Amino acid sequence: MSEPVIRPYHSSDREQVRRICYLTGYLGDPADWFWRDQESFADMFSGYYTDLEPESALVVEVGGEVSGYLLGCVDSRRAWNPGVVAARHALRRGLAFRPSTARIYWRSITDLVHDLLSGQGTLAPFEDERYPAHLHIDLLPVARGMGVGARLVRRWLEELTAKGVPGCHLETILENTAAVAFFEAVGFRPAGRNLPIPGWRTPDGRRHHSQVMVQDLGRDRGEH
Ligand SMILES: CC(C)(COP(=O)(O)OP(=O)(O)OC[C@H]1O[C@@H](n2cnc3c(N)ncnc32)[C@H](O)[C@@H]1OP(=O)(O)O)[C@@H](O)C(=O)NCCC(=O)NCCS
Repeated sequence: MSEPVIRPYHSSDREQVRRICYLTGYLGDPADWFWRDQESFADMFSGYYTDLEPESALVVEVGGEVSGYLLGCVDSRRAWNPGVVAARHALRRGLAFRPSTARIYWRSITDLVHDLLSGQGTLAPFEDERYPAHLHIDLLPVARGMGVGARLVRRWLEELTAKGVPGCHLETILENTAAVAFFEAVGFRPAGRNLPIPGWRTPDGRRHHSQVMVQDLGRDRGEH
């Protein structure tokens, strides 16, 4: 097979990016078993990046097919909150009442109320002026394990450094141990509390937890 090619995102990649988002949406596996609606899922996790900040997105082609992406955001205050996107879909498209998605919607709300009341939850997204940028990265299995993820992250961090951005963060799932190991390998370190994520469960019903990771860039790199 030919060498993977990393290139800037074009608007013609949008559908494939949304497809990959859904196909890798549960710890690298398809999200369809718990969220049976690709449109709302992709809107939550890739919509802002493809539609409002496409200049910060990179894709990788393997054998001529777009097989992964890094979706970046320079100033996280501008990004959409996935919870707000989900709520909009629930109202406009009735997903809170469709058999295919009602369960996850109502479970998310019940979890959120429980977590807020027990002091384990928050409605506020991660915000720290030292790490204003963030990223999402997802590769189809065909693109994994060849150094592509590390190349994508390196390229994104170089772009941020050139812009003078002081740091970058990301949010992954604590139980996605492969992703946490990958992000540590490319220079991120864990930060903050591991809060339960409303609605997200293992197939046998155990809850998932968030893991924020951060990396300093530019002059401060490596000093924290
Ligand atoms: C996580 C992911 C982006 C990593 O990209 P990748 O191209 O497969 O990783 P690389 O080949 O660049 O690996 C770089 C380093 O990360 C670490 N790493 C990568 N995959 C790993 C794994 N499965 N387990 C442990 N460490 C891993 C290794 O240290 C590796 O260095 P090495 O190859 O010299 O050992 C990719 O596998 C992926 O998209 N997975 C599914 C989606 C996902 O989980 N995304 C993150 C959600 S926030």
